[in-house]
Amino acid sequence: DASADNTRKDHPMWSSRMAFILAASGSAVGLGNIWKFPYITGENGGGAFVLVYLLCIALIGIPIMIAEVMIGRRGGRSPINSMRNLTRRDGLSSRWVWIGGMGMLASILILSFYSVIGGWALAYIGNSANGLFVGASTAAIGTMFSSLLADPYTLLLWHSVFMLLVIMIVARGLSSGMERAINILMPLLFVLLLVMVGYAMSTNSFAEGFAFLFQPDFSKLTTAGVLTALGHAFFTLSLGMGVMMAYGSYLPKQVSIVKTAVTVSVVDTLVALLAGLAIFPLVFANGLEAGAGPGLIFQTLPIAFGQMSGGILFGSLFFILLVVAAITSAISLLEPLVEWFEEQKGISRLSATLMGGISIWALGILTILSLNVWADVHPLGMFERFAEKTFFDLFDYATANLIMPLVGLATALFVGWFMAKPAAENEFDMGNGLAYQSFMFVIRFITPAAVLVVFIYNLS
Ligand code: PHE
Ligand code: NA
Repeated sequence: DASADNTRKDHPMWSSRMAFILAASGSAVGLGNIWKFPYITGENGGGAFVLVYLLCIALIGIPIMIAEVMIGRRGGRSPINSMRNLTRRDGLSSRWVWIGGMGMLASILILSFYSVIGGWALAYIGNSANGLFVGASTAAIGTMFSSLLADPYTLLLWHSVFMLLVIMIVARGLSSGMERAINILMPLLFVLLLVMVGYAMSTNSFAEGFAFLFQPDFSKLTTAGVLTALGHAFFTLSLGMGVMMAYGSYLPKQVSIVKTAVTVSVVDTLVALLAGLAIFPLVFANGLEAGAGPGLIFQTLPIAFGQMSGGILFGSLFFILLVVAAITSAISLLEPLVEWFEEQKGISRLSATLMGGISIWALGILTILSLNVWADVHPLGMFERFAEKTFFDLFDYATANLIMPLVGLATALFVGWFMAKPAAENEFDMGNGLAYQSFMFVIRFITPAAVLVVFIYNLS
């Protein structure tokens, strides 16, 4: 029977609705908000891109988050086995199971480079604490970043430290320790971002930065930009890779999935916009390039820390919190794989975590080399679209622009058209009135159409 699986005694549960919100926001809020959102916004010309991104969050992201958590809670297992449960129970094609498998593949690829970036943030805690930003020129701060990327050994060191932290946490399971830590650290990150926005306001480029983010100029929007916005909506909300399914499998029955998903998405969006407001005024005030790419935050924020009073403290604290935000996301990226290993006979949580963690750590070395020694290696160079892409670029592109949207599309179609009615209604848990009907309409038609249109446009 369907609900029996949800109350299995061998399966741990989040201790409360708040615990799940914190864990899911911990997964959502991460490098995607503070590192990636500002730099892709810069590369894609600002306002119009932000608007498309916000539309993607509302029309595609939130419904798919609801759908994923519904599947997870119903299936009560790792993404692959949850899909297996749901399809078997209702006599559906077992092909749907690949939603779980593809998602897991994406989570592996993402974590492999996510950890390398997390390592940059770790390195910057030290740079800040040692006072390296104090009085440094914009050029010196730029050099600090490029010499970090040029040095594979240092990158490997910090990538290893980052992965080790993630492995240590995941190996302990859903600990109350993790819940409690997120409880304190997330609000702290929020406050510190507000401090940074405050600093940005004190420069005389705040209005320019604000306009860059919120004044759409559609002539700057490309179809590739729209696909990037869509991909980032998935990335930032941790969708299209089974993470929210895996977290949903630990969600107690009485918690409202809809309210929870909306809360998490709003928090995530606020953090991204605050990061943008903290960063772009500094870009303009210091004559930097908005389209500088992945190094953007590492080349802007240190300028501010180097000039403000208490900058050593604020700077160190900021990068500590960035690492924490990255770790709570990384944990969620490792969880689907570990949960799946654990379900195989005779594999303990510890060995599952070690197997997953060490393989992903090794894969991360490809990203490290992409930044220096192999910067000119373009594995898919024979295709024009990928001619300039390193391993790192390919992992990023394949996950955000292909796998996550495709898995998201399949998830929407599954919940909209195939999942058994009683199961869907029961998980949605707001009766079958207007709320449910609207959700069903969006997930059946709007979400799939939007993903498809973006996809087809980009291919043509
Ligand atoms: N959502 C995280 C971020 O914005 C990244 C992430 C993606 C985490 C996918 C889990 C799954 O940084
Ligand atoms: Na995010």
